[in-house]
Amino acid sequence: MTTPLKAFIFDLDGVITDTAEYHFLAWKALAEDLGITFTREDNEELKGVSRMDSLEKILELGGRTKDFSAEEKEALAEKKNEHYLTLIQDITPEDLLPAIKELISDIKSKGLKLGMASASKNAFTVMESLGMKSEFDIIVDAKTVVNGKPHPEVFLRAAEMLGVDPEACIGVEDAAAGVQAIKSAGMFAVAVGPKESFENADIVYASTAELSLEKIVEVYNG
Ligand code: BG6
Ligand code: MG
Repeated sequence: MTTPLKAFIFDLDGVITDTAEYHFLAWKALAEDLGITFTREDNEELKGVSRMDSLEKILELGGRTKDFSAEEKEALAEKKNEHYLTLIQDITPEDLLPAIKELISDIKSKGLKLGMASASKNAFTVMESLGMKSEFDIIVDAKTVVNGKPHPEVFLRAAEMLGVDPEACIGVEDAAAGVQAIKSAGMFAVAVGPKESFENADIVYASTAELSLEKIVEVYNG
């Protein structure tokens, strides 16, 4: 029998708001500075991936992993983050992705708990700008976990903070690494994006506009 549903745990970038685009623009600018070609397709591999792991992947693309010391890599990641911070400074509640506000309000009105599991160290800043910080019961960001997605730690920590069993949680993600983290945590996974990218998700929606609490709960309950 399915465990009664207790909570939703959302990813931030690419699910609640389209910061995925700003991460792409900032990485692209840094890659170009380093003479590395970095495409939107390459960026798909970085969704849900931590800042330092993303940098390593970009350096690998350009065959430049051995060209920088640890300190230089820290400085490159910091440069990307400074650019990213300028791109997100004008975020407002208008930047919530379609149907997210309604979904969150439906979740809360059903008495379900609401958490966030983000791979970003900027999660609190972005959630504040979106006017969403106080809507969520808890937010776990990359500053408070050791292992990045696809490790399940960030989702497990969110469930623990909410005081619910992982089996009673639904995770929502736009990244393959994120869906892997949700499934490894023993949760039900909702993915947003192209169907072929998410073979292990329990439901896939092409865009957030299609998300509906009723439909998700129906599939969850089997
Ligand atoms: C994830 C994004 O949420 O956060 C990644 O999907 C990003 O693209 C990662 O690299 C880390 O973000 P930040 O804000 O800590 O650099
Ligand atoms: Mg994401």
